[in-house]
Amino acid sequence: MYTPRIINGKLVLVDVDDSNDCINNKLYWDIGTPDRNLISWFMRQTTTPTTVLELGCGSGDNAVWLSKQGCHVTAIDFHDSAIEKTKQLANHSSVNVNVIKQDLIKDAWINQKFDLVFDRGCFHMFAAEKNNMTHFVSNLKNCLNANGIWLSIIGNKDPYKNGMGVEWFLSANDIVSIVEPELQILKFKAITGDCISEFKMSGWLLVCCLRNQETLKN
Ligand SMILES: C[S@@+](CC[C@H](N)C(=O)[O-])C[C@H]1O[C@@H](n2cnc3c(N)ncnc32)[C@H](O)[C@@H]1O
Repeated sequence: MYTPRIINGKLVLVDVDDSNDCINNKLYWDIGTPDRNLISWFMRQTTTPTTVLELGCGSGDNAVWLSKQGCHVTAIDFHDSAIEKTKQLANHSSVNVNVIKQDLIKDAWINQKFDLVFDRGCFHMFAAEKNNMTHFVSNLKNCLNANGIWLSIIGNKDPYKNGMGVEWFLSANDIVSIVEPELQILKFKAITGDCISEFKMSGWLLVCCLRNQETLKN
């Protein structure tokens, strides 16, 4: 899988395998359980999304959890090990997830609309390149049904002094300036995110829809 690193003062995505990364040889974000912010958002919805697209699915915990809730889930990642792990987890959990290998920057996006597009830590992978973030949001927009929702869990750069060490996270300004021209922001709040160490990460929970939706979703 890919993880952000600073090399020679530059933010780059580094291809890593499970024996070779961040905290005790594990990817720091790969917590092995579905994200609790996703669960609590999902449980508060009065209408359950039928179709879900997860972008940057990693090991597949969220995709599989959503599928267990009865959603038809498509999960995308560009890394072989993410694809393999998600397929294995779905298989092991006896649920169906449509797992697709695709590069969200270089490849054409899936030509389908969904009730919910979810990502945890995928949008912020493109923090180094504003054009890539804009590309991500404008393609994502085409994947939303008329009442579709984008729920994103994003690293929050704002509490860290000068953003040191979390260069791939995003500030409130970064997010609003890129998302708001394209989508209506329904909810944007600071959250605590889990990672594999005992430290919690500062995050954002962002909920968006297409513009001019009358239904207020949160
Ligand atoms: C921080 S990880 C989060 C993984 C998973 N969502 C989770 O919460 O555990 C970001 C994921 O996005 C994927 N990713 C990064 N850039 C991508 C791209 N251009 N196209 C598709 N997937 C990408 C990575 O391979 C990785 O699995």
